[in-house]
Amino acid sequence: MTATVNNPANAERPMVAFAGVTKHFGGTGDQTGFTALAGIDYSVPKGVITGIIGRSGAGKSTLIRLVNGLEKPTSGQVLVDGVDVGALDDAGLRTLRRSVGMIFQHFNLLSSRTVADNIGLPLEIAGHDRKAIEAKVGPLMELVGLSDKAGRYPAELSGGQKQRVGIARALATEPSLLLSDEATSALDPETTQSILDLLKTINRDLGLTVLLITHEMEVVKTIASRVAVIDKGLIVEEGRTFDIFTRPRHETTQALLSASIGAKLPEWISSDLKPVPAAGDRAFVRLIFFGDTAFQPLTARLVAELGPEVNILAGAIDEISGEPFGSLVVAYPADPQTLARANTFYQQTGLATEVLGYGA
Ligand SMILES: Nc1ncnc2c1ncn2[C@@H]1O[C@H](COP(=O)(O)OP(=O)(O)OP(=O)(O)O)[C@@H](O)[C@H]1O
Ligand SMILES: [Mg+2]
Repeated sequence: MTATVNNPANAERPMVAFAGVTKHFGGTGDQTGFTALAGIDYSVPKGVITGIIGRSGAGKSTLIRLVNGLEKPTSGQVLVDGVDVGALDDAGLRTLRRSVGMIFQHFNLLSSRTVADNIGLPLEIAGHDRKAIEAKVGPLMELVGLSDKAGRYPAELSGGQKQRVGIARALATEPSLLLSDEATSALDPETTQSILDLLKTINRDLGLTVLLITHEMEVVKTIASRVAVIDKGLIVEEGRTFDIFTRPRHETTQALLSASIGAKLPEWISSDLKPVPAAGDRAFVRLIFFGDTAFQPLTARLVAELGPEVNILAGAIDEISGEPFGSLVVAYPADPQTLARANTFYQQTGLATEVLGYGA
């Protein structure tokens, strides 16, 4: 077989593969220390933006630090484009880190260096001469929209501008993979959006694979086409962001998402709902439907099927990594006949449903 750019073996090989990865901090036996990663088997595909979400302490940073060799696994393997990171010597690690860029929550810029010199730092370390560095840094500053700030120092920049410097610096060695550890967590929503737009552009125009970890659902929802959910050192759910966000199966995913996706009930209603119906109660149900055109016909059919006692309490059209979906929160009598009619209707239409609870 000839080696070509389109070699399917290359296309199929994941950018990052975690195989049976555990990470234990402190102590020598099982009785002491802390298990941050409890057995990760997970692959990050090439060319797309993948998000890893999880609560604080779930193991996100530990996981991403294994990818560029800042941590070593206690057991298992981390392969970056087929290379076993744990087996690399110092020279191997230096080579790896040129092909894996990283950006951070607090930017990690050198305060005594100008914007241009911060961006050029990885090239200096790699031994490039002044001229070669200048030739690279100019276009990078243009890419991130900071051409007019070349001679400024980090203290003179806004948070969003500092992160743009971080991104340009991470791209200086032309990596094939960009790691992001909460890169937008210190930024306001508008600045976050502009940084996410920049990451999207970089992914699209440079074909760069992006692996980002975050506790912000909005970030994943806006730019990641795939997502994995990490909980207590394990990946508990993964797949296309649209599928996971519209039909979360694991309780951690449901808990992380409940506040951020689709139509919501006001707190004064949701806080009063019970898990089982009492006589005369109504069922409060969230319906998820796909595409942006189903809203009107669906509400009409729902009323036709369930009768005039169905109430529509909230509705929203939303978007996940560019794909539209709608959600409705409805309430109807929780008597056996109505519940049975509703279930038949959901089965016929393939609607995704979530029972929020029962109440008056
Ligand atoms: N060097 C270390 N020594 C001991 N324990 C550690 C070390 N680094 C991380 N841990 C522990 O491992 C667990 C996972 O940490 P990690 O930083 O990966 O979490 P995280 O998901 O990134 O959380 P956050 O969202 O707060 O950044 C935490 O309980 C943390 O205390
Ligand atoms: Mg972290």
